[in-house]
Amino acid sequence: MNEQEAREQLQVLREQLNTYNYQYHVLDNPTVSDTEYDQKMKQLKELETAFPELITPDSPSQRVGGPPLEAFEKVTHRVPMLSLSNAFNEGDVKDFDRRVREGLGEETVTYVCELKIDGLAISLRYQDGLFVQGATRGDGETGEDITSNLKTIKSIPLRIKDHSAMEVRGEAYMPQQAFARLNEAREQNGEALFANPRNAAAGSLRQLNPQIAAQRQLDIFLYAVGEWESGTLESHSERLTYLQELGFKTNPEWRKCQGIDEVLDFVHEWVEKRAALSYDIDGIVIKVDNLEAQEQLGFTAKSPRWATAYKFPAEEAVTKLIDVELSVGRTGVVTPTAILEPVKVAGTIVQRASLHNEDLIKEKDIRIGDTVTIKKAGDIIPEVIQVVIDQRPEGLEAFSMPKECPSCQDELVRIEGEVALRCINPNCPAQLQEGLIHFVSRLAMNIDGLGEKVIEQLYRESYVHTIADLYRLEREKLLQLERMGEKSVDNLLAAIEKSKENSLERLLFGLGIRYVGSKAAKTLAAHFRTMEKLQAASLEDLIAVDEIGDKMADSIVQYFEDEKVQKLLAELKELGLNMEYNGPNLADISSDSIFADKTVVLTGKLTIYTRQEAKQQIEALGGKVTGSVSKKTDLVIAGEEAGSKLTKARELEIEVWEEEQLQTALEGDTTS
Ligand code: IVH
Repeated sequence: MNEQEAREQLQVLREQLNTYNYQYHVLDNPTVSDTEYDQKMKQLKELETAFPELITPDSPSQRVGGPPLEAFEKVTHRVPMLSLSNAFNEGDVKDFDRRVREGLGEETVTYVCELKIDGLAISLRYQDGLFVQGATRGDGETGEDITSNLKTIKSIPLRIKDHSAMEVRGEAYMPQQAFARLNEAREQNGEALFANPRNAAAGSLRQLNPQIAAQRQLDIFLYAVGEWESGTLESHSERLTYLQELGFKTNPEWRKCQGIDEVLDFVHEWVEKRAALSYDIDGIVIKVDNLEAQEQLGFTAKSPRWATAYKFPAEEAVTKLIDVELSVGRTGVVTPTAILEPVKVAGTIVQRASLHNEDLIKEKDIRIGDTVTIKKAGDIIPEVIQVVIDQRPEGLEAFSMPKECPSCQDELVRIEGEVALRCINPNCPAQLQEGLIHFVSRLAMNIDGLGEKVIEQLYRESYVHTIADLYRLEREKLLQLERMGEKSVDNLLAAIEKSKENSLERLLFGLGIRYVGSKAAKTLAAHFRTMEKLQAASLEDLIAVDEIGDKMADSIVQYFEDEKVQKLLAELKELGLNMEYNGPNLADISSDSIFADKTVVLTGKLTIYTRQEAKQQIEALGGKVTGSVSKKTDLVIAGEEAGSKLTKARELEIEVWEEEQLQTALEGDTTS
C-alpha cells in the first residue's frame, strides 16, 4: 500500500471508529459489537504502525498514549471558573427567584433546571476543531493540565465540527457501578478505598499515568461554554442543544421552566427520582435561560447572580454502634464491619455499615458503644462517617484490630503500602471457605445447591478442604449430614458432576488467581485455549494478550509456579475436570447471542444475581448495560420493587423481563 492509499484508508477507519465511539459513549446506543470495534481499532493501529508519519493527535488510537507525566502543568483559565451560590430549602430558592426578578424587572423568568452532577468541574479547550487542552477547575483561576487523562474519556470528542476557538465546561464523574467495582478490587488488593464516586473520579484524574485513568471508566457531562470566539446563541438552552449537536455528551434530564413553581416541581421530582440514577447527583442547578438577562444580572465576587444550586439534604442518620464484626476474605484481607442498631436511611433499614480498615477507625476514633452518624455513600453502601462525641458514654475503650486472624489465630500482617491487615496463612479456614464459595459461585463453576451454608457445613464436617475435595464427595456420607435428603444430595452430586464440563474460563476464574476477574479469565481462556498452554505461558506471552496488564501477568506466573497449585491442577485433571476452552472464538462471541448488540437496563432489586453478575454476563454475551431507559433501550430487566424505570419502559413500550427470564436466557445461552 502506498502512502496515499494508507491516508485514505486511515481516514475511513478513523471516521468509522469515531462514529461507533460516539454512538456507544455519548448516545448510549451502540450499533456494532465490541468485537467489530476492536477489529477496526486493530486495523487502524497496524496501519499507523506501518505509516507512523500519518498519526494525528485526534486519531482514536491516541486516546491512551504517551508516557506517565512527572507533574501536571498549570493552566490559567481565561474566563474564571466560578462556583455557585447554594440554596438549601424552598425558601432559599424563592429568594433567589425574587432577586432575579427584581434584577431584571420581570414578573416571571424562564429558567433551565439541570441535575447537579457530583463530580469535578473540568474545562475542555478546542482549537480549529481539535481537542487541545483539558484542565481541572483548581481554585477557579488556575487549574491543572490533565489533557492526557481526559483524552481517555471516550465520550469526549477529539474533534468537533465547530472550528472557532471554544472552551466547554462540564462535570467529570464516575458512574456508581464503576465506583463499586473499583472499590471491590481495591478491597481485595488491600488498597485504601475511595469514600465516594467523586473522590474516585478526582483521584483517577490526578493520576500521572494516563493508563490508570483509562481503566477507571470515567465519564463527563458538558453543561456550559467558557470562552467562545463565535458564540451567537441567545439562551443557555440553545447552547446545551448546540453542545449536543457538536457531539458532546450533555445530560438529558434538563428542563426549561417558566417561573419558580415549575422549578420547584422539577426539584421535588428529582428528590424522588435521584436514587434511580446510575450516577450521583447532589442537587439541582437552576440557571436563568436568557443570556442577555444573565449578563444584566452579572456576578458577585464568587458566583453568578443568574444561577444557584439547590442542594439535596444529606441522607444521613444517627444510631448506635453495637459491635464490630471482622471477616476474612478469600485473599486473607480482614475487614471490619459496623453492627448498628437498625435505623432508616434513604428509604431502607440499615444495620451494618462499612468501616473500611483500621486506619479509618483510628482516624475517626470509632469505639464500640458510640453514637455514630452514618450515610449511604453514593447512596449504595452505608458507611460510618463520624462519632457524635458528646454522646460518648464514659469508659469506652479505643478500638483496635486484633493481632490475630479471627478465623485461624495466625498472626496478621500488614503488607507494605497496603492499609489492610491480612492473614497470610494459606490454610486459614476462613480463606479456604471463602475460596470454595467463590469457586462454586455463579460466574465461576456455577454449582447449584452449594450455597454458603452448605460449604460451611461441608468444611465444618471436614468433608471438604480444597476445591478438589468437592469432586470426591460421596453420596453415603452426604446423606449423613443434617438437612440433606436423598433428593438434594442427588441434585447436588449431579450439579457437581455437570460442572466438570465447564469451559476453561469458569475454572480459571474459580481458582481465584489474584487480579483475574471473570472477564480476564475469558480473555485468557479464549487466547490460550488449554490450561496446559496457559500454565506454560511466560510473562511476555501473557503481556502480549490484549487487556492483560503487567500486574495481572505477574500474578498469573507466580500462581502457576506454586507447587501446591500444580498439585491441585493435576488432581482436578485426574478427577475429570475439563481443562479446555469450549467457547467460540472471541470474534464470534457477540454475534449469535440473544444479547448481541442489545442495550439492556437493570432496575429494581435483583435476587438471583447481583447487579454486577447480571451486567457481566449480559456484557459477556455482547450486550450493553446502561443506567437509564430511553428509546434506545431494547430490554428492561425488572427486579422487585422496580419503580420509575419500569414505568418509563412501559410508556415507551420496551420489552420487560422478570429476573427469572434473564436466568433462563443466561443459562440457556450456550455461547456463555
Ligand atoms: S454550572 C458559574 N451546571 O457545581 C458556575 N455546575 O458549585 C457554573 N456542577 O463547580 C456551573 N453540575 O463543578 C453547573 N449542571 C451543572 C452542574 C454544575 C455540577 C458543579 C460544578 C460547579 C459546582 C458549582
